[in-house]
Amino acid sequence: MGQLDRCYNIADLRAVAEKRLPKGVFDYIDKGTEDMTSLAGNRGAFADIKLLNKVVTDISDVQLDMQIFDKPASMPMAIAPTGTAGIAWYEGEFELAKAAAAAGVPFTLATGSNTPMEKLANEAGGRLWMQLYMWKEKELSDDLVKRAARNGFEALLWTVDIGHGSNREHNLRNGFSTPYVLNTRSVVDMLRHPTWLAFVMGRYFMNGGMPKHVNYPPGYQMPITGNVAKLRNTGISPTARRADMVSWDDVDRLRDIFPGKLLIKGIMRPDDAEKAIEHGVDGIVVSNHGGRNMDSAPPTIAVLPGIVKAVAGRMTIIVDSGVRRGSDIVKCLALGADAVLAGRATLYGTAAGGEAGATKAINILKDEMKRTMAYVGTQRTADISQDVLWQG
Ligand SMILES: Cc1cc2nc3c(=O)[nH]c(=O)nc-3n(C[C@H](O)[C@H](O)[C@H](O)COP(=O)(O)O)c2cc1C
Repeated sequence: MGQLDRCYNIADLRAVAEKRLPKGVFDYIDKGTEDMTSLAGNRGAFADIKLLNKVVTDISDVQLDMQIFDKPASMPMAIAPTGTAGIAWYEGEFELAKAAAAAGVPFTLATGSNTPMEKLANEAGGRLWMQLYMWKEKELSDDLVKRAARNGFEALLWTVDIGHGSNREHNLRNGFSTPYVLNTRSVVDMLRHPTWLAFVMGRYFMNGGMPKHVNYPPGYQMPITGNVAKLRNTGISPTARRADMVSWDDVDRLRDIFPGKLLIKGIMRPDDAEKAIEHGVDGIVVSNHGGRNMDSAPPTIAVLPGIVKAVAGRMTIIVDSGVRRGSDIVKCLALGADAVLAGRATLYGTAAGGEAGATKAINILKDEMKRTMAYVGTQRTADISQDVLWQG
């Protein structure tokens, strides 16, 4: 029996990932920011929502499949963009994308990924979405967007919640910043994880050197241990993602140059959702970035009902942050979301076992969701409504 066979839930996959990865890498994936209150709040809010068991009702044909943006998905979920999937596993984004394609859920590639978007488009299959962080030089962002469109990416998610960068103190302690700073601590950490060193870093070295941010503009595609000062000037470092250098006009520009679906990721307020509608986007991701940015952010499912009310069916609402169980997905739909993004849940799976681990994570969420739908007496995702929620 392999390690993955002994994983019965996402927490088990997380435990395998923790053993495999250097502490710096695992903490980078796993932790939140500052006092981790937003991270804990996301999970706590899901736990606080209770569902009502509906009995003596037909549950012989529970099905998860539905449509996201008028195209089939095997469940109401897509894979969230996570910049470091390529450090968790060799070409982790590619592994995760293949798993998503086989499982029938869309996959989102992060701007800061280590696998070229062309490779995904040509070899991964499935539904591909692209995530964007805006460069200071906006024409460079436009180039990335056009490149994604040329490669057939069907949706663009512009992430807007990065503000002035995140205060992840554990990363500073572990030397895990962008770029990666090699110090005694981080080197010892890596040496203590020889399997990761051989099978992740070793394979990158054998195939051309340190992993790079290959989807950055050509001049900025330096190794992840690249020159800090140079990156700072580009705007790709936290300074570059500053919300104060963007405006709603940027949405109009993106709308003009990207022919596919346009989503804004990181919406937490009804008035921002209204703005997004005014600027013609197709959807939003209600997200606090998995508790990784502003530590005082409320749980996304706490703000979701207000946003759903304001949007009133005028665009697609996807929610993320804290999804670890299939029942969490049912709760999101009951509160009015159309679908969810899975961030760490499928990233733990990737770190635990590449494509097979990611597949395991998706299957665990599917099984749990199906079981929960049967408990609450719903056979189709469209039937999940507030009716399944215990109102106290
Ligand atoms: C390791 C890691 C890297 C991430 N990188 C990005 C990124 O590059 N762009 C982005 O929009 N969101 C990024 N996110 C946030 C996710 O897209 C998503 O919003 C978040 O993980 C959802 O919370 P969850 O992990 O609790 O599911 C990242 C999350 C993690 C865990």
